Amino acid sequence: MNDKRVIIPNFLVFEGGDGSGTTTQLNMLGDRLKKLEKPIFLSTFEPTDGQIGKIIRSALKKESEIKPETLAFLFAADRNEHLYAQNGILAHVNKGEMVICDRYVLSSLVYQGIECADELPQLLNSGFGIPEMTVFLDIDPEIALERMKDRASLEIYEYREFQEKVREKYKTAIREYRAQGARVETVDASKSAQEVFDMVWSIVSQMPILKHNENNS
Ligand code: TYD
Repeated sequence: MNDKRVIIPNFLVFEGGDGSGTTTQLNMLGDRLKKLEKPIFLSTFEPTDGQIGKIIRSALKKESEIKPETLAFLFAADRNEHLYAQNGILAHVNKGEMVICDRYVLSSLVYQGIECADELPQLLNSGFGIPEMTVFLDIDPEIALERMKDRASLEIYEYREFQEKVREKYKTAIREYRAQGARVETVDASKSAQEVFDMVWSIVSQMPILKHNENNS
């Protein structure tokens, strides 16, 4: 792990509670970026679909039981691979590409912060670079859970009481992340996917890598 707290350029992350639409917005942004003059970017997500990510997903789906502290380690281990692997996030940004990602460090500070207190996720994530920009999709958990009601099964964190804590915890975690140099923009995610995306694009298109790319209007 890298000890330095650096800003990772051209790296954009979506964060939010469950059902806030991070995956939808990631996909809409990916479709928009494909229309650029130079559409070179990586669209990715955490937990990843790598070996460690698969263990995490089985626990999220309640197929296996893993202690909250162990999960905190697994999320951080999955992230370490995601960042530093040969074809990982840093390899892409170092080639001058943009990387867009569904969830990152803030998710661990929030979800594992609730589950195992702040110290462990803070310690495990203190070495990971900060994205150039983070977009926080803010939504009332009641609306978010209503959106998820047709899903065949719910994951371990997908219930009202926990999601209320998640929303509150994001606010304090974002304040602390900003104090470390992070740029975090909050977007009202209760609107339609297109309305939310219009707000997301008005923010994201200001990133230097996109300002300098043609056809980005
Ligand atoms: P996500 O993939 O966004 O959910 P879905 O499978 O419904 O698309 O995220 C999976 C869950 O993992 C979500 O509840 C948030 C949680 N999570 C953590 O608890 N810590 C983390 O570090 C990350 C990346 C995700």
